[in-house]
Amino acid sequence: MGPFPLGRPARLAVLASGRGTNLEALMEAFPPGNPLGEVVLVVSDNPEALALERAKRRGVEAVALPWRGRRAFEGEALDLLEARRVDLVLLAGFLRLLSPRFVEPWYGRLLNIHPSLLPDFPGLRVHQRVLEAGEKETGSTVHFVDQGMDTGPILLQGRVPVLPGDTPEVLEARVLRLEHRLYPRAVRLLLLGLAFPPPEGLEGLLGEEAARLFRGLSPRERPLYLRVWALLRAWGREDLAGPALLGRAGAWGRGAFLTAHLLAEDHPALRAELLELPGEVRARALAALALVESPS
Ligand code: GRF
Repeated sequence: MGPFPLGRPARLAVLASGRGTNLEALMEAFPPGNPLGEVVLVVSDNPEALALERAKRRGVEAVALPWRGRRAFEGEALDLLEARRVDLVLLAGFLRLLSPRFVEPWYGRLLNIHPSLLPDFPGLRVHQRVLEAGEKETGSTVHFVDQGMDTGPILLQGRVPVLPGDTPEVLEARVLRLEHRLYPRAVRLLLLGLAFPPPEGLEGLLGEEAARLFRGLSPRERPLYLRVWALLRAWGREDLAGPALLGRAGAWGRGAFLTAHLLAEDHPALRAELLELPGEVRARALAALALVESPS
């Protein structure tokens, strides 16, 4: 179910077109020598991008591939990723749409961050549109990239309030601060094997009833259930994945759901509930949380 965990530090590449604050957060979270993964390559379609400068300042290889059309860019980028033995590609403010030729071979190992609560507000001028729509809440989404624009399966979302008097600029800054924590966390979940896109053949893997339940979930609800599944697999209890989704896996199921919530966002009430679970479940849950929360 996806290539992660690798059992060695993953080699990360970031594609960025502009100022690169998310890139900075990713290089900070995944520096050279980090046991989970390290950013080894930054590629930009824009030779003037501040992102390239940021990479150089940290001694990370920075390559400009000036845009001369999609075919040329993708060919060169694909070759470079292979030559540098990259395991995971992260789009961070990368303003070009990638074709199936790029997306298909990298599916499951190619992430993007978008500054809205997808599937709402895909595309451009997001904060302006959020304000015009009178939303009370917005956020950011890390998702697997597929062939659409901002459409692939969601990996992780974070929320912030929209406040009276907000301008697009104020809202953008608030969402950016959220993103600088959200993106590294999403990457950690993926590299630890605690996130994956919905696999093919759900019926065979989960049983018919649980597969039906999963298909009925909204795109925003699915990542939680996939984390429950991933946790049970990591705990050697994948047999309980289907029953857990249906609420029929007892303490293991409850432990997996509480942990899956806490992996996305801390919540004192859920943490307290987790501490009341039987010892073995509790120990597994706390170990999973420690892995994701540890700075390395
Ligand atoms: C971020 O808001 C990201 O969600 C979007 O583009 C912006 C990039 O900002 N895809 P930065 O270049 O990382 O500062």
